[in-house]
This record gives sequence, structure tokens and C-alpha cells, in this order.
Amino acid sequence: MEVKLSLFGFGNVGRAIARVLLEKKALFRERYGLEFKVVSVADRSGVVWLPEGIDLREALLIKETLGKLSSWTNDYEVYDFTPEKAVREIEADIAVDVTNDKEAWKWQLAALKDGKAVVTSNKPPLAFHYSELTKEAEKRSRPYLFEATVMAGTPIIGILRESLLGDTVQRIEAVLNATTTFILSRMEVGVEFEDALRQAQRLGIAERDPSGDVLGTDVGYKATILHCVAFGPVTFNEAKVRGIAEVTAGEVQRARKKGKTIRLVATVERGKITVEPKEVPLDSPLAVESHENAAVVWTDLLGELVIRGAGAGLKETASGVVSDIIKASMMLED
Ligand code: HSE
Repeated sequence: MEVKLSLFGFGNVGRAIARVLLEKKALFRERYGLEFKVVSVADRSGVVWLPEGIDLREALLIKETLGKLSSWTNDYEVYDFTPEKAVREIEADIAVDVTNDKEAWKWQLAALKDGKAVVTSNKPPLAFHYSELTKEAEKRSRPYLFEATVMAGTPIIGILRESLLGDTVQRIEAVLNATTTFILSRMEVGVEFEDALRQAQRLGIAERDPSGDVLGTDVGYKATILHCVAFGPVTFNEAKVRGIAEVTAGEVQRARKKGKTIRLVATVERGKITVEPKEVPLDSPLAVESHENAAVVWTDLLGELVIRGAGAGLKETASGVVSDIIKASMMLED
């Protein structure tokens, strides 16, 4: 089956997805009988759209050498579309949103209304409009998938949504932000906060504007999404969030001497979301290092379930998005 994709966002994550689609083309055909045709690619400079399919190799080359898609002139036209107009005008089966645009919920909704499936790694649309978006998807019988919004490709959303179907989730405790974990562990060995943050940016794990990482907003969005999936819809406004801006080197080192480590921990219970720095024992599943995330999920039937794996990174995020693209394609096929 041929599946037409409209790709919104061609930064580091968008390009990592393009590379996976290129490198694993034969595998996806052989394993799933799926042929992906990317009909449009959009970055902040415009939308390149070709109904017969974009040459992804060329798109990568243009973006990486000239910095923006609007520099691409030869055989392609660059349309000065708003994403909302683009999702309506471009014929595609799946709109893939890997931007970090807070307003993207508007065009995700437009895509669903237009009968497209939506796959996204973009957190704010879900953290503020979960109910609206998932209701629309249900009404139109279109897939709306968002595995990569929380813990990158580590499948926590899949486990909560598609496994544990007879369980009642009681509580989730999780470390969901790699940047703050990186900063806190660097502070343990004497690196200054600002230097550690700069290193996290160089490694590509911090957001373009890292204040959301440091102030806990990124974790607040992710915890809100977990609440929506495990307990029912809420919005980020209901989350109590304190980041790591006030954590001192002294506190971090004192915790270490007690056999503990400070991590930015999200606690999610029915109707209650808290994000705050907490001391966790070094042998706790939450005492993760570097780009790993961890979540402990307690349920009535299963007891304690630990989910631990990559929570940031380019190919790690592409893992979640590509998996959702394949899943959405199979759902469209049925
Ligand atoms: N900036 C995020 C983090 C990236 O540090 O975890 C993944 O959402």
C-alpha cells in the first residue's frame, strides 16, 4: 500500500525521520507492504509540495547546505502556506507534525477534520487540547498518535494505551527530561549549572529555548499527557510545576553523600500532577543518567512496572514517530 505523508518540521527530528524513511524503505516494504511517499516537507521558510513525491535526499541536501527549504528553487515550488492551509490543500494520508509550534493544535485539528491521520512528537497541542483532538480523531475514525511526545521512542504511551487494558493505573512516578538529568549529574561532579546546560545544548538534548527544560515546563507537558492517557483528560494548567533553576551545587552534592541523587520527578495520580526536584536513592529506577528516562507505573493487577529507556535524541525520537507512522498506515489499511 502506498501511504502519502505530509511532513511538518524539518529541523533535527524531521531530518532524522527522513533518514529512517530512506534507509529502511526496502525493509518497510518487505515487512509491512508499505511504501511511503513524502508529498510535502515544511520548515519555517515554507512548504515544498510535489504530488508525485518529494526527493527526500535532495530535501536533506538543500536543508543542510542552504539552511532553509525556501532556498530550493530549481524543480520545486515553495508555497508560502500557513500550515493550516497546507494541511487542507495538500492531499495526504498522514500529517506528521514534528514542530514544537504551540499553535499546531489548530492545524492538527484541521488535518483530522479533513480526514487525515495525525502523528506527532509535539507536546503542547496534547498538553492543552487533548480532549478536542482525540474526540475529533474518534469522530472521524482517524488515527491520532503521539508516542514520541513522552520518553521519545520508549513506548510508554503504547503500554498505557494498548496494554494494561484490564488494569487500573494508580500512580506514575517518572523522570522525563534528559536535559535536567544531564545538568544535575554534571553538577554532582562539580560542573557549573550554565556550563552543563551549554553541553546539553551541544548534545542536542535541550530544546532550542532551554527554559522549558530548566523550569520544568517540558516535564509538565509530558506528565499532563501521561495523565490524559492513564486517567483522563486534563490540561497543563492543572499541573503544579517547579523546575531545577533553584537547585544548588551544595544540595546536589549533599544528596550524593547520603547515597541519593536529585532528579526532576513527575508524580501523576488521578486529578493530581506534580513536577519537582526530589532526592531519589541511587538504587531507585528513577536514578537515571544522561539521556535516559524512567517511569514507574503502579497498577492494581500488575503491581509495579518499570519502563526505562532513551527519552531524548534524534534517532530515538524518530523511532517513536516512525513507529506511529507505520501503525497509522496499518490502521488506515483496515
Ligand atoms: N528537551 C527534551 C529533554 C527533549 O531534555 O528531555 C525530549 O523531549
